[in-house]
Amino acid sequence: MGHLEIKRLSKSFDGKEVLKHLSLQVEEGEFLTILGPSGSGKSTLFHLIGGLIEPDQGEIILDSNNITGQRGLISYMPQQPALLPWRTVIDNAMLGEELHGKADKEKAVEMIQKAGLAGYEDSLPDALSGGMKQRVAFIRALLSPQSLICLDEPFSALDDFTRLEMHQWLLAIWAEYKRTILFVTHNIDEALFLSDRIIVLSANPSEIANEYKIPFKRPRNKELLLTEEFLEWKRKLNKSIFQRQDGNETDH
Ligand SMILES: Nc1ncnc2c1ncn2[C@@H]1O[C@H](COP(=O)(O)OP(=O)(O)O)[C@@H](O)[C@H]1O
Ligand SMILES: [Mg+2]
Repeated sequence: MGHLEIKRLSKSFDGKEVLKHLSLQVEEGEFLTILGPSGSGKSTLFHLIGGLIEPDQGEIILDSNNITGQRGLISYMPQQPALLPWRTVIDNAMLGEELHGKADKEKAVEMIQKAGLAGYEDSLPDALSGGMKQRVAFIRALLSPQSLICLDEPFSALDDFTRLEMHQWLLAIWAEYKRTILFVTHNIDEALFLSDRIIVLSANPSEIANEYKIPFKRPRNKELLLTEEFLEWKRKLNKSIFQRQDGNETDH
């Protein structure tokens, strides 16, 4: 469960082509990141996958079912944590589950504690820092029953230290609760640190420029960020993105 296939997806807004014949597959249990500059259509892709908008052309297939234009079949975590301010931490964490049936409060409490938020179960979101809110939003996404989780630049508003902590936390949780994750970001370090595979988007209209399998062993920790191997990959992705923007040939 959680296998996604996108077939030749195209979308224009007011005659401006944003996505063009975009095709990709996400394997079950994979952590796939789509890396692209701002405005390249990453959020648009998620809105299409989530059924919030319809494509001009193309299909979205989840576990062999055509889900194009259908809502509620994937778990989606937007850029802003979007917690309901009047619901407590525990009630926010259980929201996705509640919408699809009965929530398992014991499990939600356990995950909140694992997220380092013990004691905040009955607090309102206002009492939490940005990183803490993101953790609650991510727990909500994980507790939802859908097998595919789409994360739209969830850490871009956080400072570097908090972001690194969140990356390590996310990887630990993901290792335990193995789900398929489709992640979008414009941050190369983040993409390299987290992913099994990275797809680089070109800008306007977006097509797939390059695809890379990331070989770093798991579990990954912050020491990886300073290794020669990591820096080598960073140079490679930088080149891939900036060559593309300059309109030169890219290496495959
Ligand atoms: N509902 C919409 N109406 C018109 N233009 C849109 C709409 N949604 C997105 N766009 C345009 O599509 C392009 C891609 O936007 P977006 O998907 O948000 O990019 P990203 O998430 O990669 O930064 C932008 O030029 C944006 O202005
Ligand atoms: Mg976006």
